[in-house]
Amino acid sequence: MTELALRFAAAQTIIRELGAFALGYFNDRDALGITMKGAQDWLTVADGKVEALFRQRIAELFPGDGVMGEEQGGGASDRLWIIDPIDGTANFAHGDRQWCVSIGFLRNGVPELGLIYAPAMDELYLARRGHGATMNGKAMAPADTTAMNRATLEIGWSNRRPLDDYLTLVRAAYGLGANVKRGASGALGIAHVALGRTDGYVEVHINSWDVAAGVVIAAEAGAVINDFFASPDALTEGNPILCAAPGIAADFRALARI
Ligand code: IPD
Repeated sequence: MTELALRFAAAQTIIRELGAFALGYFNDRDALGITMKGAQDWLTVADGKVEALFRQRIAELFPGDGVMGEEQGGGASDRLWIIDPIDGTANFAHGDRQWCVSIGFLRNGVPELGLIYAPAMDELYLARRGHGATMNGKAMAPADTTAMNRATLEIGWSNRRPLDDYLTLVRAAYGLGANVKRGASGALGIAHVALGRTDGYVEVHINSWDVAAGVVIAAEAGAVINDFFASPDALTEGNPILCAAPGIAADFRALARI
């Protein structure tokens, strides 16, 4: 097996283990230990425990690889795993099933592997660059939507950027006749465009751990996605993200100016 094939296979086992571990917390609300990192910035005991278990598994299997995670941070490495242990933490803390574990792998800065597992819905999204994308074993493809007035767009929000940046996008999308939603998991938001459940996802600022898996999954499914990691500081500082079904990508990019 090549080093990428080996890592892809191992990561599929690990993400299922992490998902089951996180689901245990989700189903035992007394154990969640909810705290706030800031306004609307949720943290549960599970976030730290899931990331710690991932770091342990990578140290056992691929001791030379780097790990960057939402909870413990990290930095660049030739072989870099990027994990969001629980994406959609606000949903997780509220008992809403729309949350996931998201794992990306970059080799020499190129996103190669993307894995997203939403255990409460038992949905596993997998992609390897050049090898396609699947959800629960079936090939994925974005929707064939071509008109904004038939599109459902997801617009992500966080308080890392001014509220007006978000509201401007929402207003413009409604102005073109689109249906607008917000699911509160950036990773699943991108995966849903790749799967054709929605037609586009945009957020003016998002962190690398939210999108490291999604960029591979979206590209391999045939969706349009911006080159999130193009700027050197995207890894630690984040960037905008825009993902779209091909038929509305030009209009969506013009609307969002991304
Ligand atoms: C957040 C979610 C949310 C997105 C934010 C992220 P978290 O991540 O993905 O949908 O809009 O930008 O920070 O806090 O749930 O891991």
